[in-house]
Amino acid sequence: MKIPPTGTIEIAPSILSADFSRLAEHIAMVEPFVKILHLDIMDGHFVPHLSFGPAIVKAIRPHSGLFFDTHLMITDPLKYAGPFIDAGADGITFHLEISDNPAAIIRHIRKLGAAVGISIKPKTPTEALAPVIADVDMVLLMSVEPGFGGQSFIANSTRRAAEIRKMLRPNQRLEIDGGIDTTTAPIVTAAGVDTLVAGNSVFSKPDPAAVIQAILIAARRH
Ligand code: DX5
Ligand code: ZN
Repeated sequence: MKIPPTGTIEIAPSILSADFSRLAEHIAMVEPFVKILHLDIMDGHFVPHLSFGPAIVKAIRPHSGLFFDTHLMITDPLKYAGPFIDAGADGITFHLEISDNPAAIIRHIRKLGAAVGISIKPKTPTEALAPVIADVDMVLLMSVEPGFGGQSFIANSTRRAAEIRKMLRPNQRLEIDGGIDTTTAPIVTAAGVDTLVAGNSVFSKPDPAAVIQAILIAARRH
């Protein structure tokens, strides 16, 4: 599956906040309203916790036609990009902080046929993206420290989003991840974000689809 072309605002629900015992059901609740599903992968090294691996991605793949946006919060994307793509990941996003040679990782992911995203943590300067930003399909700006769902949006992320948007071509997506809800969504879309990860705000509610609609309406109101 290809990354949705730019020109639209997309919500990417993060299943990190879904009920892992009923993932297929939770995905079905959001499936008709979105194009992207965000998969948060944690290795216990880059971030303190473990989340899930390729086996879960493979298990949910037959239940969804969405673009699987796989956020690797792991120290060794070269080792694991392949297994996640084999399991059904459509896009692989890795963290700039884990490598001195991000260009090699980008080439590796492309060779495997997936879309490529690069992510930076809240304290990484946006200029650090400059050497490779032209070569990715998407930048993922963390608006919380990676590792946990349900944290509060870090306010300077809006300025950082605007800085990154200036560095991107119109056909590259800018995704933001952490603390996105109906209040923060319009602020970041005004700064040029077009892809909104939302975990806690969507899946902690009894009607995730209604939250998605509300975030979309808010985001378009900027
Ligand atoms: C944080 C993850 C996020 C998170 C979404 O490490 O990358 O995707 O689950 O954050 P919330 O729950 O704030 O929407
Ligand atoms: Zn994420």
